[in-house]
Amino acid sequence: MDGPNLLNPERRMLLAMQGQPTKSSWSLDEVLDVCEWNDQAVAVGAGHGLQNHGLVTLEETVLREVRLDGEGERALANGLLEARLWAWMSAQAKPTMGDLQTAFERHEAGPGVGLLKQLGVSIEGGVLQAADAEAVNSTIDQRTAFLHSLPRLSGELDDDLLAHFSGRRGLIATVEHTERSWAITEAGKGIPAEALVEQLVITDITPELLQTDAWKEAEFRRFDVTLEAASPRTGRSHPMQALIERIRTIFLEMGFSELVDDYVQSAGWNMDALFIPQDHPAREMQDTFYLEEPAEIPLDETLMASWKAVHEHGGETGSTGWGGAYSTDVSQRPLLRTHTTVNTVQYLAKHPNEACRVFSVDRVFRKEAIDRTHLPEFHQIEGIIVEEGANLQMLVTTLKTFYAKMGYPEVRVRPAYFPYTEPSLEIEVKWRGKWLELGGAGIFRPEVTEPLGITTPVLAWGMGLERLAMLVLGLDDIRQLYISDLDWLRQQPIL
Ligand code: PHE
Repeated sequence: MDGPNLLNPERRMLLAMQGQPTKSSWSLDEVLDVCEWNDQAVAVGAGHGLQNHGLVTLEETVLREVRLDGEGERALANGLLEARLWAWMSAQAKPTMGDLQTAFERHEAGPGVGLLKQLGVSIEGGVLQAADAEAVNSTIDQRTAFLHSLPRLSGELDDDLLAHFSGRRGLIATVEHTERSWAITEAGKGIPAEALVEQLVITDITPELLQTDAWKEAEFRRFDVTLEAASPRTGRSHPMQALIERIRTIFLEMGFSELVDDYVQSAGWNMDALFIPQDHPAREMQDTFYLEEPAEIPLDETLMASWKAVHEHGGETGSTGWGGAYSTDVSQRPLLRTHTTVNTVQYLAKHPNEACRVFSVDRVFRKEAIDRTHLPEFHQIEGIIVEEGANLQMLVTTLKTFYAKMGYPEVRVRPAYFPYTEPSLEIEVKWRGKWLELGGAGIFRPEVTEPLGITTPVLAWGMGLERLAMLVLGLDDIRQLYISDLDWLRQQPIL
């Protein structure tokens, strides 16, 4: 046979186009119609095949349609915020800020006044006034008309209004879709009609087919395995969850068992047990989320007495303690744990002097302002090793082994300070030529172990999970991990 070996849909589409050789462009709907198909995918597939053979050309136009978003629907039903405030203002003899704050809820009054100011409303002596009421009316009308005109193609809309609404949250959304059209080429016109007769094409080899000789005459569907295909969209774990699973597997492989405990803890276990002085700045309200409920978490009196001794004068540890007066009220205050060390230290108290390897990957809370590298809720990878003769070398080797298994063979440690460990160190991992700090570690001080009756050395560490995730996923903004950006999530490697 002459020319390329075309599939039936390709034959049908090309034959139809040959029937109108002067028609310069075929839309998807026209192709569906003339070929009597109702599945877009068949038309697009046939067009793609013909294009690969140079028999048609494809033109793709990306259309951006602007439509109402959630807030926009609401504005359409109830009026834009500025329209409602303006209507209220126009109905008052003397519209004061005070009255406005009673007439509107705080979440509306605040941004609403901002919008009115942009429209030329000023506040003098607590009274709202507009120099040019006509101008305010007309802008509000234009904005309302804009919302009423949606959905529209972005090109048909007023640029200024579009820019205005794009800057406001949740009012409008833009959806892109691609419009395709095809044109027959000279080569396409040259394919003889005989070559475009549709054939019985076998796509599946079945036992029935093989029972007769019919297959000998038939044509087999060819598959071009080099063609691009759509990636299947299947469910999968969130990268953070996948990373946590990987970390778990590594620690389990290394002989650790997992510890899971509550978010709500007492300041006593979160801090006092760890010999963090009661006047330490990190304990202040700025850093810690204290809870009102429950009013307190009662702690064992004997335990608090031994913390008191250690904090005030060092107890029997030979340390001088922090001095000052230790307060049991402070100890019994409830909080959201600021580190998972609160859980490992309690584990130690319950199992004193039992050799163990325990880890946790869990959530902690700190009053941090959200930015590129900080979140108020994040996760720590925590662990302890209790073993007779355990030493600093063993701690460093364990951490190096962990990071090597994660794919980061270059790890270094540097001296650091934590109130509860001595010596203390900082763990750094080399990434793209730079050393990045991922966590802290050390050997628990006697001020921590002595009140719990522990005499065996305890190696301990706490490392940031999100920091590690940023390395693994190559991120420079930590917030990306939690914003449910579906496109981004789909592109993430399987960990
Ligand atoms: N708890 C420390 C932190 O939150 C880390 C750490 C854990 C340091 C255990 C030493 C020992 O940063």
